[in-house]
This record gives sequence, structure tokens and C-alpha cells, in this order.
Amino acid sequence: MTRRASALVGAVLVALAGGLAPSQAQTTPASALTAEQDHQLMLDRLKIKALRPGVDGYNSAAPNFVNQDEAKAGPFSLLPDPLAFPDGRPVATPDDWWKRRRPELVELFSREEHGRVPKHTPAVRWRIVSEKHDVRNGVAVLERRLAGDLDNRAYPAVSVSLDLLLVTPEGKGRRPLVLEFGFPDGAPWMKGRPAPPGPDWRDLVLARGWGYAILDPTSVQPDNGAGLSRGVIGLVNHGRPRAPDDWGALRAWAWGAGRVLDFLATDPAVDDRRVAIEGLSRYGKAALVTMAYDQRFAAGLVASSGEGGAKLHRRKRGEQLENLAASGEYHWMAGNFLRYAGPLTVDDLPVDAHELIALCAPRPLFISVGNDQADGWVDSRGMFMAAVAAGPVYRLLGARDLGVTAFPEPLTLVADGELAFRQHEGGHTPGPNWPYFLDFASRYLERP
Ligand code: GCU
Repeated sequence: MTRRASALVGAVLVALAGGLAPSQAQTTPASALTAEQDHQLMLDRLKIKALRPGVDGYNSAAPNFVNQDEAKAGPFSLLPDPLAFPDGRPVATPDDWWKRRRPELVELFSREEHGRVPKHTPAVRWRIVSEKHDVRNGVAVLERRLAGDLDNRAYPAVSVSLDLLLVTPEGKGRRPLVLEFGFPDGAPWMKGRPAPPGPDWRDLVLARGWGYAILDPTSVQPDNGAGLSRGVIGLVNHGRPRAPDDWGALRAWAWGAGRVLDFLATDPAVDDRRVAIEGLSRYGKAALVTMAYDQRFAAGLVASSGEGGAKLHRRKRGEQLENLAASGEYHWMAGNFLRYAGPLTVDDLPVDAHELIALCAPRPLFISVGNDQADGWVDSRGMFMAAVAAGPVYRLLGARDLGVTAFPEPLTLVADGELAFRQHEGGHTPGPNWPYFLDFASRYLERP
């Protein structure tokens, strides 16, 4: 039997076996700390006395009110060069990149920013929770709700079950698919509200004959510091606090997306070599992290990802590194990352966001952002600059970069190469950029 066929049989057997419902996931071990306690523990461990505070996005009278003045935004220090080895020698060939420079950058990002994925992670057993044939906007689809149960025999106090919605057009053939980090049952804040104007991305995807899937990242890893003793991080650590280079939630969410891709490789309705990943805001950061580390993902839509996403850390505009290091967001990152919010500074960081984008090269990546008034926290220009600075790596690998270096007017589509950028008319949403992204992605995903 081929690997794909045997995995398929395994998935079906697991599906038939039944088991826990997704809602029963995430039990709490007795030793749970609050986010503040866990955060403090990490600071003690790193011998950090105090962190610099982040910027305030709300109170314009606050002394640390967020900067939106481009003249004060920089970056005022040199960005690390993705195409220079630590001793200064140039990275001259694709071979230099693949064999030495890329692994070097992966190591730096893992150690200092996102944390390491443990050597041994729990096996996932997928089962079908429910399944129905439906018609969505005129397209006949098979809609499946799947649960990916993690093997927790080594630490039964924590159980984790990945929650996935998978919708594929009926009919033969393996299709491209867009995987979203999001809400399989719809965003909670949209309940009872009218749908936003414009076409729904899911309908646009189906209209192309592609499938879509939505993974709830919080079913992989809760979205708070208190949850670090649970989720896949808590399961692997047996409920104990993280070491400074252990993975944070972004890396754990990306790991979850990788397990979804493993499953999709066993599904006759999906072509796992043509799967794009998408996310907004914190999930936009996760989509970029997924693309950067897992080269099986064929394309990415990274929406309003901001600080910790596509935005240069070294930019003094919008959200700052110090915000990420505070107790409300530090769980996204590795513990080591807190060091750069005191005593070290952002200029000591050996990497920056352009190199995270470069890790996606030469695969197509679309960086999306809303208008500056409604989406200023994410620093659109800082994300554009990072995409420009990733360009040399795309070019080294024979791909095309953005093709422009001057910050484009809002609504300008920059998408002639494998890196794309567009500021849309809306706010903190991928919404208006979906048709542009799908056109861009179809250049790659609709190739046989
Ligand atoms: C906060 C946070 C951002 C994050 C956003 C979100 O605004 O500062 O970094 O992207 O939440 O995910 O909604």
C-alpha cells in the first residue's frame, strides 16, 4: 500500500471508532497558574527584574500613546541581512540558502522568538464528528466536522482535540483548498449581526471549485498564558511551565495546521500540494509562522498581522515588541523573546520580520492590511517594508519580489510577483482583499 493509501485507511478506521466530542477537549491540570503568575515565573527564570511597558493604543493622553507619526517611525537601525552569514560573507547561491542560511534563521527564530517544536509531539487521530451533504451558494458540497484527538496516554490530565470544519465541493478530483485559522462556527462577535458587505470568502473559494477548512486554533492551544499548562504545549510539558526556548502559541497553532495538512493528504477531495493558509491579526501572525516553518503550505494570505507578524519589530509605529512581551500576549511567543523588552532592546534581536517572510520564499505570500485609520495598530508601512526587504531572498531563489519599493497608495494592488501587498478600504479584516488574494493564489494553485 502507498503511504497515502495506508494513511487513508487509518483515518477511516479512526473515523469509524468514534470518541470524544471536540467540546470535551482541554481539561485543566491541578497545577494551573494564572497568566500573571506564569509570566512572572518566566521573568524570574530569565532573571529579568522589569519589562518596559508597551504602547497604549486607546488613551491619547497617555505618555506612551502609540506613535502614528511616520517621521518618528524609522527603522533607525540597520535591519539584519538575510543574505549575509554571521561572519559577514554573502549568501550567494540557492544552495547556500537552503543548506546553511535558512536553517540558521530557523534556529534563531525558534530560539529567540517563537520557541521550538518539541522533538516528540503527540500523534493525532482524526475522526468524523458529523457529516452532511449540502448546497452552499449553488455549489453542492460535502461538509465535515472533524476532531483530531491527541494521544495523551503520557499525561492524561490534559486532553486536546483539534476542531476542524472541512467543506469540499462534491465531485471527482483533488482540489486546492484554503485553510483558515478561525472559528468553525463563525466568529462569536458576529452572532446575530448582519453579514459584512461583499461576498463571503467561503463562497468565493467554492465558486473556484476549491475547498475550504477552518481550524479553531484554541483547540490546539488556548489563547492565554494560563492555558500554557493545557493544550498541546501543556500536554507535552506534562502541565509544567515552559522552558525559555519552548514553543509559544503561534508555533503551536502552526503545528496544528501542519497536522490538518497531514490529514488532508489522506483525503481524496483535496490536493495537499495546493493548500493555502490564511489568518487575521493574531491568526495572521500564525498564518505567517505556518508558512515560514512548514514548507508544504503552497501559499499564504497574512491579514493585518502587525507586530509579531509581517511588521518590522524595529519600526516605532503601531504596536511594539513590548506589548507582545506583556502578560496578555507573551504566550504567543517563546519566553526568550521577553528579554528584548528588558534588559535587551529590539535592536539586539538577531532577526526581524523581513526574514520571517523570507523563510516563505519562493512560495507566494499575500500581505493584506486595512486602511490606516481603522487598522493603524498593525503599521501597514512596516509590513510593506518587511516585504520589500525579503525581496532579495525571493530573487536569489529565482522568484519575483514585490517589484516596487515605494509605499503604494491605498487600494493599489501590488501582485506582479510571488510577494503581494494591498491596503484595502476596510478595517481590521481580510474581507475586501479576498478576491485579489484568490486571483493571485490561483496563478499557483490552479496549475496542474
Ligand atoms: C491585539 C494585539 C494584536 C493582535 C490583535 C488580535 O490588538 O495587540 O497584536 O493582532 O489583538 O489578534 O486581534
